[in-house]
Amino acid sequence: MKWSIAILSLLLCLVHAEGVETMNHLTVKEQKLAAIAAYAANGDLPELKKALAAGLDAGLTVNGIKEILVQAYAYCGFPRSLNALGTFMALEHERGNKDPEGKLPGPLPAGKSIDFGAANQTKLCGAPVKGALFEFAPAIDEYLKAHLFGDIFARDNVDWRTRELATIAMLGAMTGVKPQLEAHISIGKRNGLSDAEIGEILAIAQAPAAVPPKTSAFPVGRENTAYAKYFTGKSYLAPLTGDKRLNTPVFNVTFEPGCRNNWHKHTGGQMLIAVGGVGYYQERGQKARRLVPGDVVEIPPDAEHWHGAAPNSWFSHLAVECNPQTNQNTWLEPVSDADYLAATRPGVLSPKVLVVYFSWSGNTRQVAGWIRETVQGDLAELKVVTPYPANYRSVVAQARREINDGVKPPLSTRIEDMAKYDTIFVGTPNWCSTMAPPVATFLTGYDFSGKTLIPFVTHGGGGEAACASDMKKLAPKATFRKALVIRGNDVAKSKAEVIEWAAKIVHANP
Ligand SMILES: Cc1cc2nc3c(=O)[nH]c(=O)nc-3n(C[C@H](O)[C@H](O)[C@H](O)COP(=O)(O)O)c2cc1C
Repeated sequence: MKWSIAILSLLLCLVHAEGVETMNHLTVKEQKLAAIAAYAANGDLPELKKALAAGLDAGLTVNGIKEILVQAYAYCGFPRSLNALGTFMALEHERGNKDPEGKLPGPLPAGKSIDFGAANQTKLCGAPVKGALFEFAPAIDEYLKAHLFGDIFARDNVDWRTRELATIAMLGAMTGVKPQLEAHISIGKRNGLSDAEIGEILAIAQAPAAVPPKTSAFPVGRENTAYAKYFTGKSYLAPLTGDKRLNTPVFNVTFEPGCRNNWHKHTGGQMLIAVGGVGYYQERGQKARRLVPGDVVEIPPDAEHWHGAAPNSWFSHLAVECNPQTNQNTWLEPVSDADYLAATRPGVLSPKVLVVYFSWSGNTRQVAGWIRETVQGDLAELKVVTPYPANYRSVVAQARREINDGVKPPLSTRIEDMAKYDTIFVGTPNWCSTMAPPVATFLTGYDFSGKTLIPFVTHGGGGEAACASDMKKLAPKATFRKALVIRGNDVAKSKAEVIEWAAKIVHANP
């Protein structure tokens, strides 16, 4: 433990981001690369193979992927890296070695790798990295500098942002590496990854399998291989009806995040009923329409259109075939990444949403991440200037004191432009039957007139207690919605519930 703290502070220079950033999305290629890195790290070779194929199909190159699987050995060891490369080699063989090769690295810089590696490490971390650990074991300092930050990071066919994306995905998929994960999150931020993108990488790392979550009450069905060539990304299909006399084909179609179908049209038209997650529908020449459960789309005959999931949310809709006796479908070109991202850009059709939370042990953070994925807002973690103790008894004692004395601990997080948000999800753990004091600091620090606040609470068995009612007292000018309340131990299995709640409540009338 002592050493992991030492490694954290020595190796890597945490720069806590303050305030919030505008949300960027990972591209589809980056999402696929994160899944590849996560599977390489957790050693699930059958799933890795599928993720590799999906990555190649999405446009990743052979050399780009090789580079990441080689880099994997520095973070998860030669066995995982070699197995991943072996899986990739076999897949390439099966695919006829026809995938685009991509760039090879240029020559390494002149001089010794320890020298340019030390320079790279300083640049990556923002300051020279030194300390007692490296005096204790100088060999590790040499290997880190010469080999990892020298030889590997000097290979210039993959940029540092992408290397950090892959590293975060690998560490996020492993256990027992929290200090290194936190450190690389910090390095990733220095190298162009936003908080929102890091949230996405971590979500992929924790669930890289394209195992569809059950986003609605309807069955998800099987992977839609029959029509896969008309889709970008994976989709799943469950037929719901079958009585020929009624002749009303209805399917539940589930799209993984980022998945959409090609432009297409139906001579008989079609009806979509959104039932889970967040998605989009766009008719040629028109703005995309954001879809949440309960939305109905009547697609006119012969209108060219596409539909699919939001970049960061699973999505399910029922598809009702209209005029099935005569209907014919015509499939057209895929929706390009650029068109898809332009159509689904956050905030275009949704309220300006901020998801803000405090979390001591991670439960509320997890829920906040899912809410943000669903509502596509900005995400801000409330960080205190003086961190709470890591020890449970000590933190409880401090929390009790602060709550009894009405202490509002100063925050290092600042929301620069509160005026731009009209809806704010506010997450807190239940601490001594009320909100955690950093949330109280947040609520007393801004003017919430005219804004809608939506609390979410995680707890250890005491439920919502006075968390939301005390929030109302501190922000009397805001309109409050009913809180989402989840027991800490149940958070891991609550993703579908959180997605559905967030998608509905963000659009509900007060
Ligand atoms: C200081 C402290 C006080 C707590 N007090 C309560 C409580 O009064 N009632 C309760 O149900 N859970 C209580 N818990 C448990 C947390 O609410 C629960 O574990 C929560 O999910 C933690 O969220 P986090 O992981 O985001 O920090 C407390 C936890 C801590 C650390």
